[in-house]
Amino acid sequence: MGEVMGAGITHYPGTLYPDEFILATLWRTLRRPGFPEHLKDPSAWPELMRQEWGNDEGHTAAQAHRKALKDDLLRVRKEIDEFKPDLVMIWGDDQYENFREDLIPPFAIYLMEESDVHPFTSMANRGVENPKNVRGEGPDATFNIKVHTEAGKYLLTHLLDERFDVSYAYKFRHMDELGHAFSRVPVYLDYDKVGFPYPIVPLQVNCYGRNVFTQGGPTVQDKYEGMPSPSPARCFAMGRAIARVFKASPWRVCLLASSSWSHAFLTPKHDYLYPDSEADRRLFNALRDGDFDLWSKLTLEEIEYNGQPEVLNWVCLAGAMFELNMKPSYTNFVESHLFNSSKTAAVYR
Ligand SMILES: [Fe+2]
Repeated sequence: MGEVMGAGITHYPGTLYPDEFILATLWRTLRRPGFPEHLKDPSAWPELMRQEWGNDEGHTAAQAHRKALKDDLLRVRKEIDEFKPDLVMIWGDDQYENFREDLIPPFAIYLMEESDVHPFTSMANRGVENPKNVRGEGPDATFNIKVHTEAGKYLLTHLLDERFDVSYAYKFRHMDELGHAFSRVPVYLDYDKVGFPYPIVPLQVNCYGRNVFTQGGPTVQDKYEGMPSPSPARCFAMGRAIARVFKASPWRVCLLASSSWSHAFLTPKHDYLYPDSEADRRLFNALRDGDFDLWSKLTLEEIEYNGQPEVLNWVCLAGAMFELNMKPSYTNFVESHLFNSSKTAAVYR
């Protein structure tokens, strides 16, 4: 008989970078062709965003933001260590990384035995010269991630039995390594550089759906039309099935959702400048209070409108925790307009 705990963290790229890089997403948005001229002036921004900008271009707020995220990551890591899982199964999004125009599966489990990842290359790719991260490592730093292939195959087989037709991959297609939602988890949960001893099972959820080619406006390419993600109801149901499968397995499993929720660059109603914190707050309150009703009834249209496609990872987690009748033992909501997204951390023990 297996044992299950739940957890959720952000994989926000600014978490591990010094303050001078934390606004990289904002800078990219402000420079985007067609961005409204009047919104380039901070005095036109909403109140929370102006407060965070302050009189030092967000420097003070960035320090507080990272401190809060760091505290949450250390807290989640401590809880995982106490639980002593055999593996960490991660729900994560693919942001036009491994899955592109030639095939985008709704759900896919990676079954390669390991992956050497480079989670700090993204800043270099944004034109930031020699970006050092707070670990003191350069953009080429390599981390070896072990995949628990036996548990991955077990999960896939039993999900098919449960009538969830999940894809699988032994090789990468458009990447040489696991994408950001997976590669950052073992690094972020190793803030103190003590190592991350747990093998993972990466389960890709096609969160980006209709947004996959047009994040933050038509920046990737606009030749193809992105098609919908799997529905929140389907993600919730699959989370329930995964909880049942692992509860009946021989392993101790941490089920972990990897993502922030509303993203500025996915929120067209705010001109991609800042996220929908109010929508996030509603979801957070329900999560904190164990109100799964709201989570089980989300629609794709509302999460897209609120800039929350990545919340589908957490809908899977909510489904799993509902199935096991588990309430969160720890939750925290770090609100921000300036740093692309608010961030939630959660633990279910
Ligand atoms: Fe993401």
